[in-house]
Amino acid sequence: MSASAFLISLGQCLATMNLYAEGHPARERALDASFERLQELQAAGGPLEFSFVGGETIVGQLPVPELASWDWGARLAAVGVERIEVAGPVSREMYDRFLDEVWRRVMGRPDATAEARQMAPQAMRWGPLAVRRSAMPGAAPAEGTAALAQAGFDVSLTDEVAAVRWLHDEVALRESLQMVEVDAVVQSLSLAMRSERRMMLPLLDLKRFDQYTTTHACNVSVLAMALAERMGLGRREVRSFGVAGLLHDIGKTRIPHEILVKPGKLTEAERHIMQQHPVEGARIVLEQERGLGLAAVVAYEHHVCIDGSGYPHFHFARHCHLSSRIVHVCDIYDALCSNRPYRDGWDSERALTYLESRAGTEVDTNIVQTFTAMVRGSTTHRIPVPEEPGVPS
Ligand SMILES: [Fe+2]
Ligand SMILES: [Fe+2]
Repeated sequence: MSASAFLISLGQCLATMNLYAEGHPARERALDASFERLQELQAAGGPLEFSFVGGETIVGQLPVPELASWDWGARLAAVGVERIEVAGPVSREMYDRFLDEVWRRVMGRPDATAEARQMAPQAMRWGPLAVRRSAMPGAAPAEGTAALAQAGFDVSLTDEVAAVRWLHDEVALRESLQMVEVDAVVQSLSLAMRSERRMMLPLLDLKRFDQYTTTHACNVSVLAMALAERMGLGRREVRSFGVAGLLHDIGKTRIPHEILVKPGKLTEAERHIMQQHPVEGARIVLEQERGLGLAAVVAYEHHVCIDGSGYPHFHFARHCHLSSRIVHVCDIYDALCSNRPYRDGWDSERALTYLESRAGTEVDTNIVQTFTAMVRGSTTHRIPVPEEPGVPS
């Protein structure tokens, strides 16, 4: 039994409660069915923590794409039910009471005693995100992490890094780009970014040089989404910029590993090979999926400068797509801030000053201005990438 089936049945219950009075057979049937779904989910040992935030429905710690059009998550969040937890065996009576309390809240008639009751230890809890009690696993949280942890999210981004590594391996070995995972990672990064009311930029901190490709993909995706949002773009565009950011260097999966991690300066021949990655990336994206035109364009254009320099080479200056110009800025910033085999990563301010010095020639002036204001005004925290010996990224 899936968590989605339970949540859908919960929404159906609340809808039925709007229509039928207590004791009506239709209402009882809906409640019976939903209680059954809950019991099946408990018996299957499924995740029993549900969060509704930023238009997403999260089960455990993973967003559920199939519930994207399920509007009860947003309706529940709007009345302060941002999280539901089931911590133990639930009787039918208990479930009825829970539904009644939530329904009253949805209807704008909250039971005054319900708030106090749901704060006490019991099998079914609901409320704002801070109801989660469990602490972050591992070491002392970095600045900004505690608030995210309190909001109920593990900000290690371990799963996202592992998923991107797997995606890259799939492209390298089987030439297959798995869009379901791409969407899931972008959704998850977007969630980490929005977990707090204020702007948060959860960026990964590179520990091993061979992790660069994966951590860099995640960071550029987060930065591109944050910047697109800051520029007032709509939700759908922000998400597609996140996908484009995640895939911008996918062409590097076709570049020999020894060139990617070479600790010194590249030779002319090696540089030529390396500079094929935009063309290779666009080809990979176009070959695999329809509807990814933007990601292909960004993969192709993200090293093209506004004065016509950069690569691929064109005879005339090419006016690149907005998302390519956005990803170009995010790409330079993250590359400069990352430790590389041949130099230590720069601090944020030095990278921002560098971008400002290139505004109008290499990078778009307006985008740089918005980007630098965003980063300087944000809570940026670098999350150490967990050590995972073995598979190079
Ligand atoms: Fe690149
Ligand atoms: Fe890049």
